[in-house]
Parts: sequence; structure tokens; C-alpha cells
Amino acid sequence: MCGIIGYVGKRQALPILIEGLRRLEYRGYDSAGIALSDEQGVSVTKSAGRLSALEQIVDASQPHTSGIGHTRWATHGAPNDVNAHPHQDGAGRFAVIHNGIIENDRALRVYLQRKGVEFTSETDTEVLAQLIAQLYNGDLEDAVRQALHEVSGTYGMAVVCADEPGVIVAARKGSPLIIGVGQGEHLLASDAAAILAHTTQVVYLGDGEMARITADEVRLTTLDAMPVAKDVEEIEWSLDQIELGWHEHFMLKEIVEQPSSLKNCLRGRINLEEGAVRLGGLVDCTRELTRAKRIIIVGCGTAWHAALVGEYLFEELARIPTETEYASEFRYRNPVLDDGTVVISVSQSGETADTIAALTEAKQRGALTLGVVNVVGSTMARETDAGVYLHVGPEIGVASTKAFTGQVTVLALMACYLGRRKHLSSTAAAQFNAALAAVPDHVEKILTAADECKAVAQKYSDRDNWLYLGRGYNYPVALEGALKLKEISYIHAEGLPAAEMKHGPIALITDGMPVVVIATAGSQYEKIINNIQEVRTRGGSVIAIATEGDREISQLAEHVIYVPDTLEPLQPLLTAIPLQLIAYHAAVIRGCNVDKPRNLAKSVTVE
Ligand code: AGP
Ligand code: GLU
Repeated sequence: MCGIIGYVGKRQALPILIEGLRRLEYRGYDSAGIALSDEQGVSVTKSAGRLSALEQIVDASQPHTSGIGHTRWATHGAPNDVNAHPHQDGAGRFAVIHNGIIENDRALRVYLQRKGVEFTSETDTEVLAQLIAQLYNGDLEDAVRQALHEVSGTYGMAVVCADEPGVIVAARKGSPLIIGVGQGEHLLASDAAAILAHTTQVVYLGDGEMARITADEVRLTTLDAMPVAKDVEEIEWSLDQIELGWHEHFMLKEIVEQPSSLKNCLRGRINLEEGAVRLGGLVDCTRELTRAKRIIIVGCGTAWHAALVGEYLFEELARIPTETEYASEFRYRNPVLDDGTVVISVSQSGETADTIAALTEAKQRGALTLGVVNVVGSTMARETDAGVYLHVGPEIGVASTKAFTGQVTVLALMACYLGRRKHLSSTAAAQFNAALAAVPDHVEKILTAADECKAVAQKYSDRDNWLYLGRGYNYPVALEGALKLKEISYIHAEGLPAAEMKHGPIALITDGMPVVVIATAGSQYEKIINNIQEVRTRGGSVIAIATEGDREISQLAEHVIYVPDTLEPLQPLLTAIPLQLIAYHAAVIRGCNVDKPRNLAKSVTVE
């Protein structure tokens, strides 16, 4: 679930491994460790807590030109020094790092114990290390292959062996691994961010594939020892995109990046004159897609909120019945997927376990699957039949911001693309596209009023409960605003469709309770004004997100944050921005670790 880095070449491995682990820190972890290998053997150093704790104890005096490093997010056993990776066999000749879960670890542990193997940790990963050691017969690659045949579960794993210095063997199933290709050196990582400082040339390891990596050669095979040929690909991300620069936090950097990330997301995709949308990734499946009788969009967390906006967009623009489902529910509930159902998975990382499982389920039942994904080459990007990348650049902050607006933008483009092939007139599509093209500038304008969001955060950040209300397209934004506040400032917040308030949650409203109401101009404006009145009557403090030019609302709300006018279906792209900023400032004021909120990982690759 967490981070893997490996290096083999001519340079000093240790600083490369530590730097790689540092670039993986954003994913969240509870312990870290490294294994350095050379002719003398394998030396392992590991420690619970931050990477800095590991740096303090690691012996940097010996030169090593190969090694592996890991940041762990505990699934089996407490996050302590012993359970940290790498894990070794009794003789200390092998060192294994692993992301994921070995599901039959109990049975394998008992089997190995009967053979006299003594375990030191509680982890599932140690089983893998002990098993490889048992099966080793002079060929590391072969031992790993045999061991993996005994294992069920998910893994991105790497191993070094004292008998084969300068060799890393890696394998993946359900947990990403990429190999970085350098000059006389190779790197291995679970995330491009870890190796971007050294190379942008990569090979994506596929599920069920293994790699034997040395300084000069990468040998790819399947788990059944069949050779695999792969092209080297170029990562489109740049180093400055994964560095903080002058920004205080990645979350803020990514919020303020949105005018440019959205421009990148739209680039080359809309033709303003013709009102046409161009989505290269959908060309091959356009016929099937246009004939879809039903669309199901799956995702988790923020991606699910974007999917919900997508549902409204698809139904309104393309008139295709659409449902949004939590991937975790979809995967286990025997969904009805008939001919003509298209399943779209929405995900920043492309690695979220529940969403991948939902996708697999949909594929097994014969549905056409599409991905709306940010990370190029990620599992979802590779496993879907077709898809559209977000192209918003790497998102490092755990709280998703620019990926949300990117996801909504792509879904809007897809809805218009499909709409044009069905009921949408070219005039309506041209108007929609023009409004979409104007969004980045509107976002820029909202960002110039960031101080008002900070003032709201300052005034209410000591309150323990907030409500977020929205209707129509802004209902998912209310959910997203509440999620942002919860995850980084640890304030309890609930998002609701505004009309639902009086069916229960209204009982919560007491004097001074902050209630954020998205009250932009549109078909439900009068209704939401009624909701504002209901909140005021009970003493709640209304923070309204309103459309520029709406003077009336300032009589009703304690605070008003204005956003430019746009078409109603595109309002989420604007109204989400102040809510991101309010959550960000509330977290900073409360002294929370914005980019590494407690208990959260950037991408949830285990169930
Ligand atoms: C958002 O702020 C979250 N941290 C989380 O809800 C996230 O959106 C979710 O885990 C899905 O991730 P994905 O987009 O990478 O699939
Ligand atoms: N399941 C392993 C453990 O608990 C790996 C966890 C991870 O992916 O970081 O140690």
C-alpha cells in the first residue's frame, strides 16, 4: 500500500533510496526501512516513525551501489521497528519489501514453522521472505517465482539476496511498480515521484509480471517464466510539479494551480468554433458508448463526488440513464449489468483497491469499461477498455483538490462528447464548450478573493460541527466541501442536499453553528434561499457561496464568497474552490498537518 524504491547502478545507493523515500512520504506511512547489498552481504536498517528516524540510525559509512527501500502502511502487525520492512529470513541473506497483503499468510506461516522456520515479526510480508529463502537454490529469480506461485493476495514486491549482489528481483500483482531506466543504472519504484529526479524513462510492470534488474539490464518475464517485451515510455510529469517550491503546503500549491491544471486538462479537447469535443481516448469505443443504455460511474471519496456531478451531466447532456456508486458497494453487491451498460471508474491515482475491484467485476460481466484517471500507466488506466486522462499533473496533497476539478472537467467533456452524438444541438454544445473554456479564468478570479475564505476559517475554525448544503449540481460540492474540512482539519462536517436538512439534520442547528450554503444563481436559487432562512431562524451562521452580482444574499448570510457566473452544470468547478480554501485555512489555523493528515494515505490500495 505504501512506498517502494530500489536502485542498482554505479552511484551510491543510500542517498538515492532516502531521497526516493522522502518523495514517497506524501502517501502516508508509519515506518521506513532500507536494505543495502554488496559482496559482503545484505544490511538492513529500519525504524518506526518518520523517515528522519531511519536517517539517524542508518550507517552511511559503507559504499553500496544497490539496495531497496520501503515506507510501510501497516496492515498486519503494529507499526513498530520489528514489523517495518525490509523483512529477512533467519540467516539474513534475503531482504524483502512489499506493498499489499498476502492473504494466505497464516497457512504459509504454519507450513514454514513446521519446517523449523522462526518468525520475528507479525507481518504477512515476512512469510514471503522466509518462503523465498526456503526455495532458493542459487537463482533468486527462480526462488521468487516459485514463492509467488504459493501466494495469494496483492503485491508490489522487491527482494535482494546476499548471494547475488547487484541484482534486484521485483514482481507485481495489484500494486504498482515501475522501472526507471538510466545511464548504466536502473531504479524501481511504486510511484513515479520517487524516481523523477533521476529519469523520466520508465517501463511499467504489468500484473503477473516479474523483473530481474541489474545496472545494465532489465529482464521481464511473466510469473510463468515467459519472456515479456515492453517499450520504454516517457513520464510526462516534471520535477517541479512534485516539489513544494515557494508554497507552504502541497494542498495550497495544488489549489492555486487549478487555473493551469484545468487549462491542461482542456487543452486540445474542445473546438470552440464547431462546438465539438475531441477525446482521442474514446475514439475506438464511440459507437458502443453512444449506444449505451445505462452508465454506472464508480469511485471512492472525492472521486465519488466528482462522479456524482458526472451523473447529472450525463443525464442532462447525453440523456443516458446514469448511476453513481461507491466502488466498495458495487464490487460486493451483485450489480445488474446488462448489454449496453458502460462502467466508468473515476480515480486520481488509478490504484484505489475498491475501484479496481469494481472495474474487474464490471469487466468480468462483459461491460465496456472506461477510466477517468490522472496517473498515466496506473492499474486502472491499463485495465480499462478506454478512457480519458485528467492531465492535471501529479497530486501530492492527501486532500484531493485539482484532481476533483479535473475529474469534473473530463466528465463534462465526455457528457458533451456523447451529447453531440445524441440529442445535444451544436449551438448548445458550442455554448457549453465556451463556458467550459472560460472556467480556468473564473477559477483564477476566485483565487484572488482567497482572503475572504481565510477570514471565514479564522472565525469558525474553533467550531466542532459544520454543515454544508447544496442543491442540484452543487449537492456533490457540499459533500466534497465537508469531506475536505473533515480530512485535514478534523472538524466534523456533514454535506447534504439542502432539502434533506429538514428531514433530520436541522435538529443539529444551534446558535452560531457554521452552515456553508452553495447558493449560486440557477434553477433552484429560490429554494436554497428558503433553506438559508431556515438556518437563520435557528441561529445558524450562514456562509454563502453566491454568484457575482447577487446583492440580496448579503442581507441573509453572515459571509458571502462570490464566484463568477457560469452555466449551472459547470458551477461545481467554481464553487468547489472556496470550499477547498476554507478547509485549507481551517486546518492551518488549527495547527494540523495539512499534507499528511492523521490516519490517511494518499491512495488506498488495500481494502
Ligand atoms: C480525497 O481528498 C481523499 N483523500 C480520498 O477521498 C480520495 O479521493 C479517494 O481515496 C479516492 O482516491 P483516487 O481518486 O486515487 O481513487
Ligand atoms: N501487508 C504488509 C504489512 O503490513 C505491507 C503493508 C504496506 O503495503 O505497506 O507489513
